[in-house]
Amino acid sequence: MKIFLDTADIDEIRTAARWGVLDGVTTNPTLYARVGGASYEAILQEICRITSGPVSAEVVSDDVDGMLEEARHYAALAPNIVVKIPMSETGLEAISRCKAEGIKTNCTLIFTANQGLLAAKAGASLLSPFVGRLDDINEEGMIVVRELAEIVAIHELEAEVLAASIRHPRHVTEAALAGAHIATVPFKVLQQMVRHPLTDKGIVQFKKDWEAARAALAAKQGD
Ligand code: E4P
Repeated sequence: MKIFLDTADIDEIRTAARWGVLDGVTTNPTLYARVGGASYEAILQEICRITSGPVSAEVVSDDVDGMLEEARHYAALAPNIVVKIPMSETGLEAISRCKAEGIKTNCTLIFTANQGLLAAKAGASLLSPFVGRLDDINEEGMIVVRELAEIVAIHELEAEVLAASIRHPRHVTEAALAGAHIATVPFKVLQQMVRHPLTDKGIVQFKKDWEAARAALAAKQGD
């Protein structure tokens, strides 16, 4: 399963790229608002310089023409931009027209397998079911990921399932087991995936034992 970083924070993206685990990036207006300080376009271009994987840029227009105009604008920024378009009747039309123009899309705000199926049929290359937001309203978000992954596999659809709205490391494991092609994770979750208290304890113990062994050898050689 590919791992995308769900952030517009350049330092976080650089760090994940250095770790060798970064396959792409997703941004949205909320994530952009969190960092600010530069235009959305400048941040997207900087991200595209760090990774050659897909980088999602989200539109905010309500009508098809507006969405298309934004899609063309973002797609022209870098070859690896994927335009994020929300699920709706308007969104489906915009996705279909982007496909006809050769612009890759990520259908966002998917909460049912049927929404994902329609987005795939319209031509979206990425389907983003929101796991955490469904869990928040006492539903099982991962069911949508599993159903959608099965539908994509059974019908050999071209789209990939991108598990989004990931809140904790267990979500990542479950998304991988449910057959998601990609999980997009906040940097904090990526850090949580790295750590385990027994790993930390083991590193300290190995270092301590190594130093004790070296000291014993030095003492023996000094005899
Ligand atoms: C990514 O594509 C989504 O916009 C993001 O994962 C949403 O996450 P949230 O539900 O934590 O805002």
